[in-house]
Amino acid sequence: MSTNPNLENIVNTLVSASDPAQVKSLYAQWANTYDKDLADFGYVAPGIGVKLLNALLDNQQALIHDAGCGTGQVGALLSDLGYTKIHGSDFSSEMLDKADKLGCYSQLDNVDFGKPIDIKNDVYDAVISIGVYTKRFKQHFIAEMLRIIRPGGYFIFSCRELYYDEVMDVVVDFLKHKAVSRLEIELADYMTGQEASAYYVVLEKTST
Ligand SMILES: C[S@@+](CC[C@H](N)C(=O)[O-])C[C@H]1O[C@@H](n2cnc3c(N)ncnc32)[C@H](O)[C@@H]1O
Repeated sequence: MSTNPNLENIVNTLVSASDPAQVKSLYAQWANTYDKDLADFGYVAPGIGVKLLNALLDNQQALIHDAGCGTGQVGALLSDLGYTKIHGSDFSSEMLDKADKLGCYSQLDNVDFGKPIDIKNDVYDAVISIGVYTKRFKQHFIAEMLRIIRPGGYFIFSCRELYYDEVMDVVVDFLKHKAVSRLEIELADYMTGQEASAYYVVLEKTST
């Protein structure tokens, strides 16, 4: 169990924050110690998300978008597996600077998921978003991620247990409307040091 009160305060504030400016400011302050702090917390979510994605993709030339890439933990793991076409986005320039230094992203953009996203339709073979989903996003975020994925492509994201019901409402609606042809959900570790689990949601965009 972590005994870092400052870190616990950051995580609790992020879970309850409703003001995006407050979230952005927290990540700006946190960027330098984020990787070490989360290692101390036993943050295993990037590894679990990347393993799920790798099992679905059939070649390392797949064009992947890491939405909310932060310091680039997901990109680094994808790169280790041989993926070379990885784009990342985040609304924190401090976090993006860290990701850039890893050298595994061919494109990094400053994007706010609370607003319309300036990316064309049907671009990516897959989008992965780990540790990002929040109650502020709901339908808009998932709809935008599905929009930028090509038909037959995948969207994998994690959500904390407290968001399960609202996420299910949204994704079941996409299934009903045939925007999504496959839905898989796995409950797995998130931060082992906190004994926290998360849902890992896999969506396949309907082929046209
Ligand atoms: C817990 S971190 C996860 C980072 C990375 N995916 C990982 O697993 O280490 C959440 C990230 O989401 C970003 N984020 C939060 N709200 C956002 C928003 N509205 N638009 C874009 N990025 C956002 C934060 O800046 C932060 O880098």
